[in-house]
Amino acid sequence: MLSRLDLQKMKENKEKISMLTAYDYPSAKAAEKSGVDMILVGDSLGMVVLGYSSTVQVTVEDMIHHAKAVRRGAPNTYTVVDMPFMSYHISIEESLTNARAIFQKTEAQALKVEGASKEVLELIKRLTEAGIPVVAHLGLTPQSVNVLGGYKVQGKDKETARKLLDDSVKVAEHGAVSIVLECVPKELAEIITKEVNIPTIGIGAGADCDGQVLVYHDILKYGVDRLPKFVKPYTDFNKHGEEAVKSYVSEVKNGSFPTDAQSFLMKDKSLLP
Ligand code: KIV
Ligand code: NA
Repeated sequence: MLSRLDLQKMKENKEKISMLTAYDYPSAKAAEKSGVDMILVGDSLGMVVLGYSSTVQVTVEDMIHHAKAVRRGAPNTYTVVDMPFMSYHISIEESLTNARAIFQKTEAQALKVEGASKEVLELIKRLTEAGIPVVAHLGLTPQSVNVLGGYKVQGKDKETARKLLDDSVKVAEHGAVSIVLECVPKELAEIITKEVNIPTIGIGAGADCDGQVLVYHDILKYGVDRLPKFVKPYTDFNKHGEEAVKSYVSEVKNGSFPTDAQSFLMKDKSLLP
């Protein structure tokens, strides 16, 4: 398993970091077998595998339940688990309690939080001091979709770009081990990547980040209908999976499945009439 320092070295050596989400045992096994550097148990699981309309419905219990399955599938891969909506905004005590539960029960390597408000910066510092590494998430922060007014690119103009750069420097100063940059112009992501000394992992943030992260189901086109611009699908599981299921159904209906190849036969046939 890579350590925080290995990931840091990858940035320094300009060796790209690959990160992929996983939400259950099979996706985690596939990620580990394929050699991804980091797994993210994203709260995107709310939309991708639970069918919610956003990440806002996801709970601490959901994250723990899924992350435990992921760890069983990928025990040797550096795993980051999202703190879900409102689990780190009520009070510092409640945030620490939730972080402790997620970190201890899932045996994650780090937790991820969105934003760089005064409270979130304080939390990053407190968790780091307590021994829980934190990955920051800036740019488009989906837990705030209702405040942002939609899933839009962030930091396109000078003022918001400056703020994103400042926030990136601040999360690094407060101890974050890495920064996920979501939906920011590639020029800005490049500047941030040069400016901060921790790895940046981009999603819709161009090729100059230290690493890339995408959603497992998006790269497989698995159960998702519309893909964002920043996704590149590497296969079409919807198509292949649907074809397979249709063949199964029609073979059951027309009696061509099962054959003896999928059946068990008696050794001693003397009982038979
Ligand atoms: O939940 C998630 O999948 C994420 C990635 C999009 C970075 O946070
Ligand atoms: Na997330």
